[in-house]
Amino acid sequence: MIVKLGPCRLEFVQGDITQQHVAAIVNAANPALAGGGGVDGAIHTAGGPSIMHETQTQYPEGCALGNAVATGAGDLPAKFVFHAVGPIWKGGRQGEPEQLAMACRACLQLAVKHHCASLAFPALSAGAYGYPIDLAAANLIKTTMDFVRWHQKPAVVRFVLYDQGAFGAFTRAVEEVVPR
Ligand code: APR
Repeated sequence: MIVKLGPCRLEFVQGDITQQHVAAIVNAANPALAGGGGVDGAIHTAGGPSIMHETQTQYPEGCALGNAVATGAGDLPAKFVFHAVGPIWKGGRQGEPEQLAMACRACLQLAVKHHCASLAFPALSAGAYGYPIDLAAANLIKTTMDFVRWHQKPAVVRFVLYDQGAFGAFTRAVEEVVPR
């Protein structure tokens, strides 16, 4: 599924984020940048040890909630990994929506800063961190659309959804958010 927004487009695919041929991919990281399972485990496994080496040497203090930091992408097809820290879902009234939007915007800003024409996001916070997938989808899509409308870049933002449930949630959310 593709949504065009002026010179930019949003793409929605089912797949593995580590396999994406884009300039940058987003990691669903934790504040310690300590690695983990899910997207984080897949990126460090497929990308090799240089990514963890870079996070440890460049960001020994980790990354704050709602922010993101950039490293190279090791053996992955992408050029950069943006390690984003989304919120742990605690019911939705403890700032989680704004924290998720901040993490998303931080990645989009890093893409602009590093001249990345294409950026791939996973369903940030919607796995181990428990953010309801439909709410995460609407939040990430709306935040991205607002950003690209204003900045007219990155040219391509691809949401890479691991399973059919996540893919369905994102495509339904697009239909709700995109004006007809
Ligand atoms: N490609 C794309 N999406 C994937 C992949 C992959 N290879 N692997 C898992 N996913 C999906 C999950 O199914 C989920 O929908 O990405 C979404 C986000 O899940 P998580 O990776 O668990 O991310 P998050 O909820 O943000 O939790 C982050 O988990 O692995 C730890 O270190 C990480 O502590 C951090 C926490």
